[in-house]
Parts: sequence; structure tokens; C-alpha cells
Amino acid sequence: MTMTQSDRDIEKDLSNEELSNLYRIDDFEAVAHERLSQMTFAYYAGGAGDERTLSRNRAAWEALSIWYRVMIDVSKRSPATTLLDMPLSFPLLAAPTALHKMAHIDGEIATARACGAAGVPMVVSSLSTTSIEEICAAARSPILFQIYIGQDRGFLTDLVRRVEQAGCVAFQLTVDTPVWGLREREMKTGFCVPPEMSIVNLQRTGSASTGHKGVGIGETLGWTITPSLCWKDLEWLCGLTKLPVMVKGICRADDALTAVRCGAKGIVVSNHGGRQLDGAPPTAEALPRIAQAVASRVPVLVDGGIRHGGDILKALALGATAVQIGRPILWGLAAGGENGAKRVIEILAQDFDRVMALSGCPTIASITRDLLEPAR
Ligand code: FNR
Ligand code: LAC
Repeated sequence: MTMTQSDRDIEKDLSNEELSNLYRIDDFEAVAHERLSQMTFAYYAGGAGDERTLSRNRAAWEALSIWYRVMIDVSKRSPATTLLDMPLSFPLLAAPTALHKMAHIDGEIATARACGAAGVPMVVSSLSTTSIEEICAAARSPILFQIYIGQDRGFLTDLVRRVEQAGCVAFQLTVDTPVWGLREREMKTGFCVPPEMSIVNLQRTGSASTGHKGVGIGETLGWTITPSLCWKDLEWLCGLTKLPVMVKGICRADDALTAVRCGAKGIVVSNHGGRQLDGAPPTAEALPRIAQAVASRVPVLVDGGIRHGGDILKALALGATAVQIGRPILWGLAAGGENGAKRVIEILAQDFDRVMALSGCPTIASITRDLLEPAR
């Protein structure tokens, strides 16, 4: 029997003791699978097409070995770093993911609090189920806003001003969605936005509904994006706001360089967690080429399949300033709301600290490319 959202709402969160007995992100995914409705789990977990890019994202991190250094004093370690003048307690951000209230009734507020407690920035999806103003009010760490250009320019201009006023520190413009990927799991489970939730940031004043009717993301949220998106739209956004604009969803070095020329202040190497073009390269393969081409002109972030501290170290060795995690936060929310998301971040922070020590890296600066190359 398929559980409805209200069945989910009456379930109790795992206790802190139960959460502390989960040690891996995959444990959280298993718990989330049990607790979420089929439709919600399918939407969160699924990818596009045959899900080859989805599975290759993880496999590509796993395939890299860490050629660790020994006999280095790692008794004092610092995972702290900065991104666009923001302090990060360790090189991690919560990636923008839509519809957090489907995972937990506290939705994006729970995520913002968990990120705040951990000193990790949160990138809020423009398809959040809580308004950007409410999220910023609950935040204790920097909030970035992910934006899709799909609506009319007047509406977007107002949205940009709202985001600035709310106190966000940067934008991530998502560019890998000229159309939505075809996600079979969504179609088979009849994915739709539950009627009691709304895409609040994109709601026009005076309109009761954001018009998300139908099945699957293509039908329900087709109106949020446009296939005409091109570089001049990035220039338009960069000209409209003083906040830095990062460009999310890039897999090619030439596109990364064009984005920088158009005004981007950061690149997010991403294939949308394997949810858009099935057949896109895993991000671990795309990252080193882009980082080399960009050559520190702007920071480069990466997301897709990051599940272990070692994956974070590998991403930094390949030139990333920090990584983003998408699904792991949703699994944490499903297991225990704010405390669940907090525990997910804690697992990654502790694992990253241990991996730094075991790799002979006391500082972020000591995480260099040679760690991934067979040493002579
Ligand atoms: C996403 N992602 C995404 N990206 C974005 O720019 N705006 C969005 O609203 C969403 N929504 C969204 C929902 C869900 C359920 C998922 C799983 C993903 C993509 C996200 O930001 C990120 O690129 C991937 O999730 C990273 O891969 P992992 O960490 O989930 O493997
Ligand atoms: C997704 C959109 C919302 O991947 O980005 O489902």
C-alpha cells in the first residue's frame, strides 16, 4: 500500500540515539526508503533515462584511489575554508533540492537549521516549499539562492530583489534544464506536487495556484524553465544583481570559460545528480578539466554522488573549492528532520576529518592533485 503524505506526517522522527547509530549516508537512504511514500522516494532517488549517469557519478568517485602520504604531523587539522568570502566549517554546501516538505513537515526550515548548526551554507532551490524570507530568517549560515530563468523578466526581477532583500549572499543559476529529463520512476509512481504544498517563491501575488498540475516533473513544473535559455540570459542576471552569480550544471571546460566571460563568479560542475541528460559524464571526470581551464579565476564547486569524506578529498585534489550534496540531506530530513540532516552533515564532517588525517593532509591547502596519481 502506498503511504500518503499525511501517513508520513504522523510518523515520529528517529531519536537522537537512533540517528547516532547510523554511520553511513547509505544507512540514511535505507531509512528514508522505508519512511517515505513510494512517490516521494522515487522523485528524490531517481535519475533520467536508464540512470547511467546517476550510477556513474558515484562509481567515478569510488574508482579514484588516494595515494596517501605518511609521517606527516596531522595532530592539528583544519578543514575550514572559504568560498566567495564566506567561511565554511568544512568544504561542503547543501545543494539546491526542491520540495523539502515532502521529506519532512518542517521542510527547508529544518535544513536551514541543520546547516546553520554545522556552519555549512545552504543553497535554496527556487522550487522550495518555504519562502526564501522564512528560510533566511531561520538561517545561521550563509544562504544562496538557486534560480531558474523561465518566468517573465518582470517576475524574475522582483524575485531577484526579494532574494537580495532576504539576505542571500549569492545566486546559483541552473543551466542544465532547457527541458526536464525524462524520469521513469516519477511517471510510474505518478509524481505530483502534493496539493497542500506550493512552490511559494514562484507564486504570483494574488494567484492561488502556481499551476503545477499533471504527472512527472515535465508536466508539473514545466513552466519553471525555458528551452530558450542562453548566455545572454546569464549576462542579464549578472547585470541585474550585485550578488555573485555562480553557474550550475556545467560539464565542459569551454562552457565554464564562456560563463566566466559572461560574468559568472563561480562554476558548479554538475549533471543535476543524473536527473537531466542520461549519458552525461560523471562529475568526477568533468571536474579536473574544468578546474584546469578556469585556473583559479573563480571558485569551482562540484556535486553528484558525493557520499563519503574521501569523495570530498578527491574533489578538492581535482581542483574543487568545495562540494555540494543533494540527496543525502533529503535522506537525513526523512529520517529525523533537522536532527537527521544534522547527523548526515556530521557523518561527512567526521569522515572528512579522518580522511584528511589518514591521507597526511593537515590543511585544505595540502590536498593537492598528486594525491590521486600513482606516486613514484
Ligand atoms: C535536485 N537538484 C536540483 N538542482 C537545482 O538546481 N534546482 C533544484 O530545484 C533541484 N532539485 C532537485 C531535487 C532533487 C530531489 C534532487 C535529488 C536533485 C540537483 C541538485 O542540486 C544536485 O545537483 C544533485 O542532487 C547532486 O547529486 P547528489 O548529491 O544528489 O548525488
Ligand atoms: C529536479 C528539479 C526540480 O531535479 O531540479 O527535480
